[in-house]
Amino acid sequence: MRPLVAHIDLDALRHNYRLACSCAPQSQAVAVIKADAYGHGAVACAKALEGDVLEKKAPAFAVACIEEAMALRDAGVQTPIVLLEGIFSADELSYVDKHRLWMSIHSRWQLEALQAFTPSAPIPVWLKVDSGMHRLGFAPEQAASVWRKLEAMPEAGALHLMSHFATADATDSAYFSQQMAILEALAAELNAPLCLANSPATLARPEAHGAWHRPGVMLYGSDPLEAPNKLTRQLQPVMTLRSEIISLREIEAGEPVGYGGRWHAPRRSRIAVVAAGYGDGYDRHAVDGTPVLVNGKRAALAGKVSMDMLTVDVTDIPDAAIGSEVVLWGKAQNGEVLSIDEVARCCDTISYTLLTGVLPRVPRRYDGV
Ligand SMILES: Cc1ncc(COP(=O)(O)O)c(C=O)c1O
Repeated sequence: MRPLVAHIDLDALRHNYRLACSCAPQSQAVAVIKADAYGHGAVACAKALEGDVLEKKAPAFAVACIEEAMALRDAGVQTPIVLLEGIFSADELSYVDKHRLWMSIHSRWQLEALQAFTPSAPIPVWLKVDSGMHRLGFAPEQAASVWRKLEAMPEAGALHLMSHFATADATDSAYFSQQMAILEALAAELNAPLCLANSPATLARPEAHGAWHRPGVMLYGSDPLEAPNKLTRQLQPVMTLRSEIISLREIEAGEPVGYGGRWHAPRRSRIAVVAAGYGDGYDRHAVDGTPVLVNGKRAALAGKVSMDMLTVDVTDIPDAAIGSEVVLWGKAQNGEVLSIDEVARCCDTISYTLLTGVLPRVPRRYDGV
């Protein structure tokens, strides 16, 4: 069998969830498990977070759309689920009602669709305000009248004000403060409970914790902050993308490796071929020098990533052999950790794209079920 596997450590997921709860003890943590739990498998992650092993079970999950919610319900997940983008068409309301989903409302047509629908019980609504992200939501000057309309609607259940930050990860952001000021004013005017904080705000912006917070990427062990703090250092990687060396060769100084001959050996070198490539979701933009762990020791990518393979300079790792463990991110068997955030920087991207980019071809294996 091809040795490439994404190992998912559900104990690490629970640890990170508890950390999110402890960052904001007065607030409830809705675990964001959209995009198949950022590539980790939404059903397995939901079951791990709603299970008895967790003293503080996740009180709600958040997904992007009804299809993602239905996959969870079909697998027996009972916990409330919030649709972060609400419904995409009015006919989805019958599913929202039947499967006891909570919906965000970001547009007038959604409000009108709810008004025209007769649910079996009032549907909890998270009213989305555009406080500065300029993606989804009502403008702040419209939000109060929509809120009052919802308060008067028998179709709408418990109401929350929701918004999303554009720059919560930045160390010093005037724009974050501007968004916060808009939201605090609205919450005070409407006496509305707030749901604002994503992972960076959960970890670094206590003023944004509100009644609910919405941690996503931190649950999977990635540090979302521009500058790490003592909380982010406690995060544990959930996914370990692990493979093996499948071939080894020695090449002379000056010889090129891989497509286009991008990397040239600076000395006589030992090159390991690893079973992982962009056809598995490993980013092809990874530069020469991108770290990997070989037998738990740091080594460097040498040459362009191919579809099914990549090449690593293991000249300084004498015990590297065919079958040696190669960790592309996550935790090696000797306990050494390679941060996905470091790998992402070498690919000029963010951990989110690497995690959600691991393709179905890569089997997921779960520990701590
Ligand atoms: C509306 C909303 N809330 C929360 C999150 C979670 O953000 P993060 O993964 O940065 O914690 C996202 C992620 O994209 C989102 O779109």
